[in-house]
Amino acid sequence: MERKLGYAVVGLGVGMGHCDAAIASEKAELVAVCDLIPAKMEKVAAKQPGLKMYTDFEDLLKDEEVECISICLPSSMHAEFAVRAMEAGKHVLVEKPIDITVEAALKIEEARVRTGKKAGVIHQNRFNLDMIPIKAAIDSGRIGDVFLGTFAVKWYRMQSYYEGWHGTWEVDGGGSLMNQAVHTVDLMQWFMGDVESVTSNIGIFGHEIDTEDMTASLIKFKSGASATFVSTTCAYPGLSTDIQIYGTRGSIEADQDVLKTWKMMDFDEEFAENMGIDAFDAEEEEHYMIERYGKGNPGVLAVEPEHLVGHRYMVEDMICAVLEDRDPAILPMEAIKSVRIVNAVYESAKTGKTVYLG
Ligand SMILES: NC(=O)c1ccc[n+]([C@@H]2O[C@H](COP(=O)([O-])OP(=O)(O)OC[C@H]3O[C@@H](n4cnc5c(N)ncnc54)[C@H](O)[C@@H]3O)[C@@H](O)[C@H]2O)c1
Repeated sequence: MERKLGYAVVGLGVGMGHCDAAIASEKAELVAVCDLIPAKMEKVAAKQPGLKMYTDFEDLLKDEEVECISICLPSSMHAEFAVRAMEAGKHVLVEKPIDITVEAALKIEEARVRTGKKAGVIHQNRFNLDMIPIKAAIDSGRIGDVFLGTFAVKWYRMQSYYEGWHGTWEVDGGGSLMNQAVHTVDLMQWFMGDVESVTSNIGIFGHEIDTEDMTASLIKFKSGASATFVSTTCAYPGLSTDIQIYGTRGSIEADQDVLKTWKMMDFDEEFAENMGIDAFDAEEEEHYMIERYGKGNPGVLAVEPEHLVGHRYMVEDMICAVLEDRDPAILPMEAIKSVRIVNAVYESAKTGKTVYLG
């Protein structure tokens, strides 16, 4: 029988999903969890008999059965805990954002290189079955030269959401952009390339918080393309995430992370089929629309992707990365890009000037 990787999770908010993914994996065993609140650990133990529960992270690090740890703590704690884990000989999978500053995030990369341990970062939306075809269409040149993008994350959060660490500069590192929309910032730079500059406004409209619940930015890319990016947690009762990308030979639009428009001058049915897209000739002309996705082809794991959506997919990728001695899907230097962009937005809003990312 193949050996199973000893997995652990620290921080049991979204970390519960990491626990479920590790329990479901045939290649790992969830051996331990760590949280300050025992009741949260008991919930996981009810699904995983024999689970070890630690309230002190140092005790988790001393556990020799633990080989890989998901770091699911509040955002400003990521680098400190990830570095401690790697120095103790553990591999790490860090929740988004990698940390709240570029400086802190770079410490994860430095520790990864120094210790030789693996460090992956969660940005699960890249593995959304509707985002994969967008990336493939852009990278293969099928929509021509990308010149414009519009990105809008129009969510809602009640005031009670902000009663803990959320929406604080010290721990969350920002508001709607750093916490909620960082997923879409990551997608934006993944689709459209390196950002040259940002010019932004931010504001607080619906909550009592330190940071922001609305951002609006004009983004310029090194390619010469431009994008608008807006984020909010004030759009009652919580609306969609819209992504629109326009190239000289085609347009792609997604609403609520689901593809709505797939129009290309040179429509390639085989490509669409390979991407698992059910395309149909909506207007009996050479342009086609997509109604909804079918099977995707993430091309990272040799497993059926529909069984591995979101966190399940990324935890499984991390487990395989350790067992196969390869890199995980998203490395620290890749995840740092969105944190750099988010902080540039805040700096631009604070100074009233365009910020150049260099
Ligand atoms: N990828 C996603 O879609 C997604 C979704 C939600 C949250 N997140 C990210 O996950 C991270 C955690 O967010 P959350 O919403 O789960 O937060 P949360 O506050 O719900 O959970 C954090 C947990 O960490 C525990 N904790 C805090 N300090 C600890 C310590 N010193 N030792 C052990 N446990 C400790 C807390 O008791 C709590 O249970 C954040 O960085 C957030 O941005 C990602």
